[in-house]
Amino acid sequence: MDSTGSRHPMTGNRMDPAEEVGPHGFETHEYDVVVIGAGGAGLRAAIAAHDAGARVAIVCKSLLGKAHTVMAEGGIAAAMGNVYADDNWQVHFRDTMRGGKMLNNWRMAQLHAQEAPERVLELEEWGALFDRTKDGLISQRDFGGHRYARLAHVGDRTGLEMIRTLQQRAVALGIDVFMECTVTKVFRDGGRVSGAFGYWRETGRFVVFSTPSVVLATGGIGKSYQVTSNSWEYTGDGHALAMRTGASLINMEFVQFHPTGMVWPPSVKGILVTESVRGDGGILRNSEGERFMFNYIPEYFKSETADTIEEAEGWYEDKKKNRRPPELLPRDEVARAINSEIKAGRGSPHGGVFLDIASRRSAEFIRRRLPSMYHQFKELADVDITAEPMEVGPTCHYVMGGVEVDADTEQSLVEGLYAAGEVAGGMHGSNRLGGNSLSDLLVFGRRAGHNAAYNAQKLSGNRPEVPEDEVKAAAEAALAPFANLEGEGGENPYTIQKDLQEVMQRLVGIIRKEDELRESLVEIERLKERAKHLRVEGHRQYNPGWHLALDLANMLVVSECIAKAALERQESRGGHTRDDFPGPDPEWGAKNLVLTLDGESVQLKHQPLPTMPDELKPLFEEA
Ligand code: FUM
Repeated sequence: MDSTGSRHPMTGNRMDPAEEVGPHGFETHEYDVVVIGAGGAGLRAAIAAHDAGARVAIVCKSLLGKAHTVMAEGGIAAAMGNVYADDNWQVHFRDTMRGGKMLNNWRMAQLHAQEAPERVLELEEWGALFDRTKDGLISQRDFGGHRYARLAHVGDRTGLEMIRTLQQRAVALGIDVFMECTVTKVFRDGGRVSGAFGYWRETGRFVVFSTPSVVLATGGIGKSYQVTSNSWEYTGDGHALAMRTGASLINMEFVQFHPTGMVWPPSVKGILVTESVRGDGGILRNSEGERFMFNYIPEYFKSETADTIEEAEGWYEDKKKNRRPPELLPRDEVARAINSEIKAGRGSPHGGVFLDIASRRSAEFIRRRLPSMYHQFKELADVDITAEPMEVGPTCHYVMGGVEVDADTEQSLVEGLYAAGEVAGGMHGSNRLGGNSLSDLLVFGRRAGHNAAYNAQKLSGNRPEVPEDEVKAAAEAALAPFANLEGEGGENPYTIQKDLQEVMQRLVGIIRKEDELRESLVEIERLKERAKHLRVEGHRQYNPGWHLALDLANMLVVSECIAKAALERQESRGGHTRDDFPGPDPEWGAKNLVLTLDGESVQLKHQPLPTMPDELKPLFEEA
């Protein structure tokens, strides 16, 4: 057995490469559905495809279970009505649309609100643990922008519990998992998906998947920014793969900066501090001790936000009251407010603001409801959150933009290419409400998997072929970073990534303006040029520099999309704030920006939003 051979997808045992070589000279596997990504959306898609009778593989660049899904700590938003019987899908739908400043794909938001409760109950059936109400129902907690307490949760570890449950189910069903395997190309035969190409991170060997259906579930783009809650995997791979396969992206200008990430010590800057802290009573103060959020209540949310301390405190005592504390405004509002306080010189010693739950809840309550936060601050910052406030500041957490998909099937513009979870666009409009991500990935992961299986079944007598010349080209492209091995002056990919993060953070961050966005595009162009001449050392066996060189191409194209769309949209809305166009503009509120690739060049066009049917409109008039 070759010590550098690839691993068996399920057992992890090394395989003899001689046994696996397909017609293209590389290890080859045939499936009905290949799911790229093993977070919540990928796992849920794979389970659905398997249940529909498809032969399914999950391919993930990291270890199974290591996904950004776990960073949705606070809960799964679903109108189950366990805490407030008045809750229902219509209210959840309305909250989601308002949170996204009406730029959401209304049909996705409707399906999401309607199907989320069923998906939570199904998860429970599969073994997920939840905190309970005193009547034994699944407990639901408050989060920003949600009218009712509706986040089904287990402490502040809900994403982790979701991953544990889905992963256990996928493995029990016998779904093949290709771990530490990065996909670099999706193939088409004519207009249809026919397969994918990737490499094993450990050995550097190539692998070909023959499949008529690919589900992209690769998550977000956070690693393009300096301060992020995302870990190393989130380099916009699915976004870039989709574009290169001929699909389109929408809403890429909308990037969510979660209001509360750790700011200190530097080694943990950006790590998420769950919104549950505020949902469970935590408040924000500046260096002068002022509860500043009262100064930042936008007109749009005035009717439902408490504007005095007494009123906000009243809500905490009797949550049936309509006006919620301003700390529970949607994330874009809170992040901007924190940013303004810091800029105005009222920040905390390490450049954040103070998040205080210690003075408002008992130590027992905090340790029970927020166990991960308690340990995170104790272990990483030597702060006891039951006794002192946390220092927090905005961190890049999520991209609302993603692959343009059909709302019902999750199919992109390319036949056989599906997207679900963070990599898909439309559902959250210009700003996602906290908790809506876990429900999104369950609802649309299931739909994508199901439809991908159906597509494979439809094509079973007529499977598209993996084009031989494209396999060869994909292998050459993957090896290109080694081409400069002998050359002079090639740059290390880490330097280019660091410079990209600096550009995105400084010029395409929370507050944007025209000259800075123009500058960012010039800088990204320079970085692209530098990336053409980068240099990786060593050989193909576990070589993180090479892996980053390949990921970098994705980060660059996705960053260009964000900056281009941000420059084009001349208004402020949700996760896109223009200093030079401070308010929302109704004309812009009626359109999406769509991005495609023409060769290497990013193209942008305006497209009207899908029209909401008349029967749903009264929900907004009442509000
Ligand atoms: O704050 C949080 O727990 C994150 C939740 C989410 O992004 O949905």
